[in-house]
Order: sequence, then structure tokens, then C-alpha cells
Amino acid sequence: MNRMKTFDDIESALAQSYLGLLAAQPRRPLTLFAPRRIGKTFFLDHDLAPVAQQSGFLTIYADLWLNKSAPLEAINHALEEVLDTLQVPSSAVGRAAKTPVTKVSILGSGIELGEEPSPRPLPDKPALRLDALVTRLAAKYQGKLLLMLDEVQALADVPDGVDVIAALRAVLYTKRKVLHAVFTGSSQEGLAVLMTSVGSPMYQFAQILTFPSLGDDFLQPLANHFSKVHPGKQLDRAELRAVFMKVGFKPALMRDLVKAMSSEGITDVHLGLSRYVSSDAQMSLWGALLNGCSAFDQGVLVAVAQGLPPLSAQTLRELAAIPGANPTIGKVRTALSNLKRAGILTKAGAGTVVDDPLFAEYLAKRRIASRANAGKP
Ligand SMILES: Nc1ncnc2c1ncn2[C@@H]1O[C@H](COP(=O)(O)OP(=O)(O)O)[C@@H](O)[C@H]1O
Ligand SMILES: [Mg+2]
Repeated sequence: MNRMKTFDDIESALAQSYLGLLAAQPRRPLTLFAPRRIGKTFFLDHDLAPVAQQSGFLTIYADLWLNKSAPLEAINHALEEVLDTLQVPSSAVGRAAKTPVTKVSILGSGIELGEEPSPRPLPDKPALRLDALVTRLAAKYQGKLLLMLDEVQALADVPDGVDVIAALRAVLYTKRKVLHAVFTGSSQEGLAVLMTSVGSPMYQFAQILTFPSLGDDFLQPLANHFSKVHPGKQLDRAELRAVFMKVGFKPALMRDLVKAMSSEGITDVHLGLSRYVSSDAQMSLWGALLNGCSAFDQGVLVAVAQGLPPLSAQTLRELAAIPGANPTIGKVRTALSNLKRAGILTKAGAGTVVDDPLFAEYLAKRRIASRANAGKP
């Protein structure tokens, strides 16, 4: 049996099922939720877009996390780029051929070409521009459009996020015959703010689905490759699964881990993991991540990793040992929101946890008022 083929088929089946849901309720964007680095963007790019294209969609992608300051402009920019690629003829010959000859030069022997055809300028107001761009794209392409917006919870952090959602909702309604949308999100908290804020147009708008983590279809090819490189050696499937769960179902991390095990020829996956997390490379990565935070934020982070309630009296007492800290509940709250915004902490159920379970283990072994933190602003 060809495993890679099975793997691709399964991914395509997931993409197909999402397209089916969209067809049933075109006005309601699908929102795929999963923690960071689980594979959402990879899925959009590698599976959903190709499957949608095969079904006749023109796909447009925008990352709202990377364009937090101006999300609607980022969406419009993505639409304009796609529109440009539809409009630019594939060669200069094509361009000339599209331009009608308006006059014959008297002095020269050649002919002069007329102006490039220029459509009416697009409206400047972003919401109107969005509508106009969708209209133009649909007219040019003469088929359906799939708008893929990555990390939509970024809209919860911007002052005009609700307006952006209102604009999206309006265009998805008026253009429902030609426009479908898929969103992704990686913060439960951010999505909850978006979805449930009373009066927000997002309320009862998007259909939220949990984006599934990868399983054996991802792990088996890794194990197969390992055995190919090390004939006679095998990785235990149950161990692989257990460790994949331990690393939070992050495929890139798992691949790196198996690569590291392969270079040492180790087959014990748990041993491989403990070597991997204590490697110099990993230590310096985590050290750098930690040093990007203030001493106080580092202290709060370590407290969370150790399972202390961050606003408790005990945490405040321990934080007081950080030179110049003078901890208050307000300062801890600020630190928590800094760490969440940086994607280091994340909301899980009723509490707040370190997003990366391996980083959490590393942090839990540190002290809240670590000597290494002293003197950092
Ligand atoms: N189905 C997959 N097969 C193999 N590798 C994957 C797969 N999905 C994701 N990855 C790897 O994991 C990394 C993180 O995935 P990404 O899509 O960026 O996560 P997310 O968007 O959820 O944060 C990618 O760089 C990619 O290398
Ligand atoms: Mg992503």
C-alpha cells in the first residue's frame, strides 16, 4: 500500500468536506480552530487551495496576524494582487494586442498604440473597495472565489475589528453566489471575543469547527523513512503517538525530533525527546524566547508554567524577589496579556497555560526570580 497516497487522499477528503459545508451555507464562513503550529496554514496552502481550485474556485489568501494594524487593507491588497495577475497578459505581445490602435503616426512609419485600458478607479473606503474588488474579480474570473483568512482572531485585538467583520459579513451576504470564505483561528480566547461579544456581527455568523490534529497518516511515513535510513531499526508506533501528543501534535517539531533521532541512530522515542529538548540548539532557542520578555513577564511566565495561579498572593510574593518588581495584580494582568499577545501563553478551558508543552516543562524547572533575569529591564 502506498502510504503517502493514503495520506494525501485523507487530507483531500477533509478539504472536500469543508467545501461541502460551504456549499450548504455559503454566507457562513467556516472557521477552523486549532492551536498554533498544528498545520492550519499548511492545510490551506497544500490541501484546501488545490482542492478548491480543482472545483473551479479562484483562491485568495491573507494572513491577518501578519497584518494586524490594517486587516481590511490586507484583505483588499490580497484581492488586488489576484486581480492583477488575472489582468496582466502573459506577455508583452499580449499586452500590445489588447490595446486598440487609436491613431497612425504621421512622421514615423510605425503605428502608435492607444492607452492601456483603465477601468474606473476603485473606491478608497476599504469596505466599499472590498465589495468592488470582489465584483471585479468575479467578473474577470467568471467563477467562484474562495477567500481564505488566516488567524482571524487578530481582529479581536484591533480597534476596528468589529467593523472589519461587519464589512466581511456584508460582502459575504451580497456576493453569496460567488464568494465563499474560510477562516482559521488559533486563540480560543480571541475567537470567543469575536464570536460572542454582544451585538457583534460575528455572533451566529461563522461556523466554528475544530481542525483535527494529524495522526498515523503523518507518523507512519516518518517511521517508514527512519527504517529506510536505518535498515533493521524501527520506531514503535505507540511510542511515536505518545510523544506526538506530548509535543502538542506539532508536525514540524515531530519531524525535527525524528530527524535528530535518525542522526544519532536512536530508536527510543522518549529518550529521543528528552535529548532533543535538552540539546544546545533547543536551549538557546528557548533562552532567546525568554530574553525577549521583560524580567517581570519572565517571572509571571515561570509562575504559570509551575501551575501557580498567576494572581495569587503566593505568586505576588515570589515575584517580589525580582529586583525592582514591586508586583501588583495590575502588573501581573499586563504581563499575562503581553505573553498572550506574543503567543507564548494561551487560554485553555478556564485557565491560562504555556502554549508549547515542551517549553512549559523547561520553564517549570526555572525559578520565578531567576538570577539570570536579574537586572534585565
Ligand atoms: N500535513 C502536514 N504534513 C507534514 N508537515 C506538516 C503538515 N502540516 C503542517 N506541517 C508542518 O508544520 C509546520 C507548522 O504548520 P502551520 O501550517 O504553519 O501551522 P499553523 O498554521 O496551524 O500554525 C509547517 O511549517 C509544516 O512544515
Ligand atoms: Mg498558520
